[in-house]
Amino acid sequence: MIHLLYKSSYVFVVFYYVIIPLGYLTKWWVSVEKMKGNSTILVTGGAGYVGSHTVVELLKNNYTVIAIDNNVNCYATGKDKPESLKRVEKITGESVTYYNVDIRDKEALDKVFKLHKIDSVIHFAALKAVGESVQIPLTYYQNNVGGSSTLFEVMAKNGVKKLVFSSSATVYGTPQFLPITEKHPTGQGCTNPYGKTKYFVEEILKDVCTSDSDWKVVLLRYFNPVGAHESGLIGEDPSGIPNNLMPYISQVAVGRREKLQVFGSDYPTVDGTGVRDYIHISDLAIGHLKALERMLQPHYTSWKAYNLGTGRGYSVLEMVKAFSEVSGRQIKYELVERREGDIAACYADASLARAELNWTATRDIKAMCRDTWNWQKKNPKGFQTS
Ligand SMILES: NC(=O)c1ccc[n+]([C@@H]2O[C@H](COP(=O)([O-])OP(=O)(O)OC[C@H]3O[C@@H](n4cnc5c(N)ncnc54)[C@H](O)[C@@H]3O)[C@@H](O)[C@H]2O)c1
Repeated sequence: MIHLLYKSSYVFVVFYYVIIPLGYLTKWWVSVEKMKGNSTILVTGGAGYVGSHTVVELLKNNYTVIAIDNNVNCYATGKDKPESLKRVEKITGESVTYYNVDIRDKEALDKVFKLHKIDSVIHFAALKAVGESVQIPLTYYQNNVGGSSTLFEVMAKNGVKKLVFSSSATVYGTPQFLPITEKHPTGQGCTNPYGKTKYFVEEILKDVCTSDSDWKVVLLRYFNPVGAHESGLIGEDPSGIPNNLMPYISQVAVGRREKLQVFGSDYPTVDGTGVRDYIHISDLAIGHLKALERMLQPHYTSWKAYNLGTGRGYSVLEMVKAFSEVSGRQIKYELVERREGDIAACYADASLARAELNWTATRDIKAMCRDTWNWQKKNPKGFQTS
């Protein structure tokens, strides 16, 4: 009798803890593999820096991509396919369906949803210059917040309720603790309209998920994307004076700018200059594929936020030194006063993405500098060829 009882509880344990979880895992794995082959992803802002690198990774993994962009911040002749997407086609040998569509244009968006059977959306389209957002806040609110809510409305109308949203570490405002986890408060101390637009769109999406349990949303909070595709065919191509450190350094290296101004050298950091969490653009792009897979996991509903960073900060001077070593060029710089609104250090706790997205950044500071330099050297004027 005891022997029988022992045996049946053993069968129960195997069934409960091995067979059932294995069944779930297989179901999930099959649905992910099926999704890759058959899935059509609408990528808004697909011609931009993060968008174009993500389109490369999507195509490499057999997704069908529909890219839309209004070309406000990418190089294109007229309403033609932007140069970045032509280069994506060169890298992958695949074609990208592209529409010149503004996310604020409800009718044009709706047409795209009617023309294609879209499964999920990755939403990059936004204006992103922090300084400019202070000068023209209404343009930022209209484009980033108004445009996003128009997009969500059209998605819902067409029964598409899976979305990955490009958010930003700016939603955390001034860090209350480091490294920053996803539990850090958001929306408090966002110092500029750009950061607030990211926070507001996150809040809109949370409300949408509360109102309708069919929605599945992943909020990806990026830290500081840098680098370029290893081919040197696509990379960051800022118009005018770069707002970010890496494109500035590389433009100094290539002789387009005279010297770098380092804002603040008396912060309580390793060498007094500001520390940030830089992440290679190709690692960031892969994070979006992992987010798509996450939405298909059994029981995934509603929304969840993930930090995409390396979890390691580098100072401005460390970045300058690394870039000099890789490029063999001297980077001229001068130390100047702190800039208002800047913080000493900001870096991510990226352990949640590792645990739940099965994602981790693999490219180091050397790869970030090498690929930036490769892109800059081959394209001193960015995507503009003449
Ligand atoms: N690059 C960063 O440092 C960074 C950091 C955190 C978050 N983000 C977010 O990631 C996303 C992509 O950033 P990026 O660096 O690739 O910027 P980007 O400017 O290179 O790309 C954005 C693209 O969206 C397009 N766009 C803008 N408004 C549009 C509209 N109304 N309709 C259609 N297209 C529109 C632009 O033409 C551009 O091609 C943005 O939402 C940005 O806020 C970027």
